[in-house]
Amino acid sequence: MTPTIGVFDSGFGGLTVLRALVARLPHAQFAFLGDTARLPYGSKSRRTIARYAAESAQFLVHKQGAEFLVIACNTASALALDAIQAAVPVPVLGVIEPGAEAARAASRTGDVLVIATDATVQSHAYAAACRALGLRALEKACPLLVPLVEEGWTSLPDYSAAVAVPDAAQAAPAPPQVAVTSEVVRIYLAELTADAAALVLGCTHYPLLRPLLEAAVPPGMRVIDSAEAAAETAARLFGQLASERPPFEKDSEQDPSAPNHGKIRCFATDSVEKFERLGSRFLGRSVGTVELVDLGG
Ligand code: DGL
Repeated sequence: MTPTIGVFDSGFGGLTVLRALVARLPHAQFAFLGDTARLPYGSKSRRTIARYAAESAQFLVHKQGAEFLVIACNTASALALDAIQAAVPVPVLGVIEPGAEAARAASRTGDVLVIATDATVQSHAYAAACRALGLRALEKACPLLVPLVEEGWTSLPDYSAAVAVPDAAQAAPAPPQVAVTSEVVRIYLAELTADAAALVLGCTHYPLLRPLLEAAVPPGMRVIDSAEAAAETAARLFGQLASERPPFEKDSEQDPSAPNHGKIRCFATDSVEKFERLGSRFLGRSVGTVELVDLGG
C-alpha cells in the first residue's frame, strides 16, 4: 500500500506546497484539507489556531489514514506545531524551518526579510528559526495580501504560470485590479528598509504574488518560496522514512512514470464549489471533486 501524506492548510494556499510535493513524490497518495470555514487563521489567537489545526490534523490521520503530515500553513506551523505533534501519532513537518534554511542559502549578508500574516509575525517563529541558523530576520505582517490573493487579484491566473514564467508579470497584460495589489505590495515592501539579500514568503498564499514581489524588491534580492523549500525538506524526510519501508518507494502495482491524477483527495470545511474553482489556481491543475467536511465550530 502506498502511504498517504496528509497536507493541511487553513485554506487554498497550501495547495502550492501540495503541487511541489506531488512533483517530488510521484508515488505517494495525498489527502489535502483546507479549513476554509475557519480561515483566516492569520488574525486569530494561538489557542484558537492550535485547536483548529489539531482537529484538522486528527481528521487527516484518523479519518484519512495519513501517515505523515505536512503543515502547509505558515500560521499553523508558527503557532501550533507542538499542539499538532501532540494530537497525532505520526511525523509532522512545518514550513518555518525549511523556509529559514532556504533563506540561509540565499542570504549573503545574514539579514533576511520575512513577510507573513499578523499571527505568524507576532509569534516571531521565523526570527527564532533564523536566529538558530545565524541569520537576522526582519519580519513584516502583510494582512491585506491573503484577501487580495483569495479575490484573484494576482498578475497571473495560476501558480504554475508564476513558477514557469517568473517574469510573466511584465510580459502579460495585467487585469486592472492587479494595479491595486501591486501598490499594496509596493507600500508594504517600502516599509522594509533593511539591507537584506533575501525575502522569505512566509505565507502559502504569497507564491501567487511572486512576480509582483520580484518586480518590487531591489535588484539582487532573492525571493524565497517557503512552499518549495518545505516540499524539498518533506521529500528528503519521507525518502528516508521510505527507505525503511520498501512499498513507499516502489509500488509494484504502480507505473512510476504514470501521472499522479486521482491520487489527490481534497477536503474543505466550507464551499466545495469555491474550493474547486480557486484551488486549481494554486495547484496548477484541476483539484477534482472536493469533499465537504464538518469539523465543528
Ligand atoms: N495559509 C496561511 C499561512 O500560510 C494564510 C491564510 C490564513 O490567514 O489563514 O499563513
